[in-house]
Amino acid sequence: MTPDVSLRPYNTFGVEARAAYFAEFASVAELRTALRQAVPPVLVLGGGSNILFTRDWPGTVLRNRICGIEVVRRFPHRVWVRAGGGEDWHELVMWAVRQNFGGIENLSLIPGSVGAAPVQNIGAYGVELKDVFISLEAVELATGRLRRFTRQECRFGYRDSIFKQQEKGRWCITAVTLSLTTDRHRLNTSYGDVARTLADMGVGNPTPAHISEAVVRIRQAKLPDPAHMGNCGSFFKNPEVRQEVWENIRQRYPNAPHYPLPNGHIKVPAGWLIEQCGWKGRRVGNVGCYEKQALVLVNHGGATGQEAHALAQAIAASVAAQFGIALEPEVNVW
Ligand code: EPU
Repeated sequence: MTPDVSLRPYNTFGVEARAAYFAEFASVAELRTALRQAVPPVLVLGGGSNILFTRDWPGTVLRNRICGIEVVRRFPHRVWVRAGGGEDWHELVMWAVRQNFGGIENLSLIPGSVGAAPVQNIGAYGVELKDVFISLEAVELATGRLRRFTRQECRFGYRDSIFKQQEKGRWCITAVTLSLTTDRHRLNTSYGDVARTLADMGVGNPTPAHISEAVVRIRQAKLPDPAHMGNCGSFFKNPEVRQEVWENIRQRYPNAPHYPLPNGHIKVPAGWLIEQCGWKGRRVGNVGCYEKQALVLVNHGGATGQEAHALAQAIAASVAAQFGIALEPEVNVW
């Protein structure tokens, strides 16, 4: 346990905050030892890509470094792959693509760790983690007990799981098992940007590697690289609104992007709402709304977490005033 450690290298927004105590663990045994020594409250960090620190952490921050990727079962057309919670998510995707395993290529370049991926059921370009998910292993922070959660037990929803709801802050995800195809891949190229990019690449019969490359190109063109400009990816979730709310928007903006959902609600892109409120590309002090994707807040250098949080609140307030929609953060704000 190291006292008084800066968390700046461990959060992709790149803000300064201090942990009263900090330790890393590379196995379940090391995690259990760390938990016995930890001063509460305990926060488990993965890649630090989905948290905004607005203040110091008064207890212990534990950083997951549990590594390893292995095929644990083979079937005629698929494999089960188990990866350590501390692995980098994109490295896992690249590993899968190199073996020509299909299923997670649309999730290329999502920042963060494997252990964090199920917490918010990461998703992009028509694919969500839950589509390939088999189970996960997690250690209960209060007791050190190891437990397996099946897909049903995780209760996945849009950017949501049991680990953001009733089990929030209670578990450390130590390993995740996914089912990937080895041939007869079910590739998802329906998302407009992906189809267009594959066409630009001159690819007619894509492999998982082609799709991964297309997704990497799209993300690099639209989203800032945290290594160069601090950010947490999408700051807000895309809101799902009732038909009446949508009708109201449609009357004012007949061409507004929207996606009808099976439950009768309408999903309206938060990035579009924020752009209509005039925030896109705007800078306030050291933080701003990214010029190419309004849903992403960025650190222009030296930003504090409070500054970023204040900007997020101002953005949410103007979307509420102009559209009557309450934006919900996707990022955990501490
Ligand atoms: N849009 C705007 N202005 C903007 C941004 C978006 O008008 O500044 C409009 C676009 O024109 C488009 C629509 O919003 O019609 C959707 O935009 P985009 O395809 O960029 O996707 P998104 O809904 O903004 C979601 C995820 C992303 C994921 C992309 C691609 C959420 C909260 N975000 O963004 O995930 O990469 O779809 O599938 O669901 C993340 O979670 O961190 C993340 C980056």
